[in-house]
Amino acid sequence: MLEHEVKVLLTEQEVDKRIQEIGDAITRDFAGKQVHLVCVLKGGSFFMCELAKRINLPVSLDFMSVSSYGSDTKSSGVVKIVKDLDEPLQGKNVIVVEDIVDSGRTLSYLMEMLKDRKPESLTLCTLLDKPDRRVCDVDVKYTGFTIPDVFVVGYGLDYDQIYRNLPYIGEVVFTGEEGK
Ligand code: IMP
Ligand code: MG
Repeated sequence: MLEHEVKVLLTEQEVDKRIQEIGDAITRDFAGKQVHLVCVLKGGSFFMCELAKRINLPVSLDFMSVSSYGSDTKSSGVVKIVKDLDEPLQGKNVIVVEDIVDSGRTLSYLMEMLKDRKPESLTLCTLLDKPDRRVCDVDVKYTGFTIPDVFVVGYGLDYDQIYRNLPYIGEVVFTGEEGK
């Protein structure tokens, strides 16, 4: 891990307010229906829990884990399913809940794979979006915040597995000579 500091990019209040707005939007858009949230572990877990509490509809949850990362801060493009969903998706209104869409490699692969399982609808919801780094096209319906090309942590996002528990979104600023 390189020498670094964490600078607040989005406060806890800003993030909470935005999650409430997304919860309200989902409640409106899926009125009269049940939604099935699919959390992409581990990063999406904090966002999913906060979002689920703010959706005023019958909600079911499932979890999956994919890996496209080592302990590096750049996506390798290799997507591996580490843990698959417990439940079938057929006939469900599936909302995939992610922490961040960066290159889009993980999500474009995942969305195609989930589409094959014949859900009634398949929607993507991400807390953060870094469009500057996109290499694969992904159709994001709900975005918390669009951010510049910086490395962020907190609210489920990690740097080498730490900082997931920060209640805000922080920017990692590399301070040492190696980080320059
Ligand atoms: P993508 O496949 O490049 O879109 O990114 C996939 C995954 O990379 C995300 O789900 C995150 O887990 C991780 N990631 C991308 N950008 C960041 C970041 O700024 N901080 C922490 N993790 C990130
Ligand atoms: Mg992720």
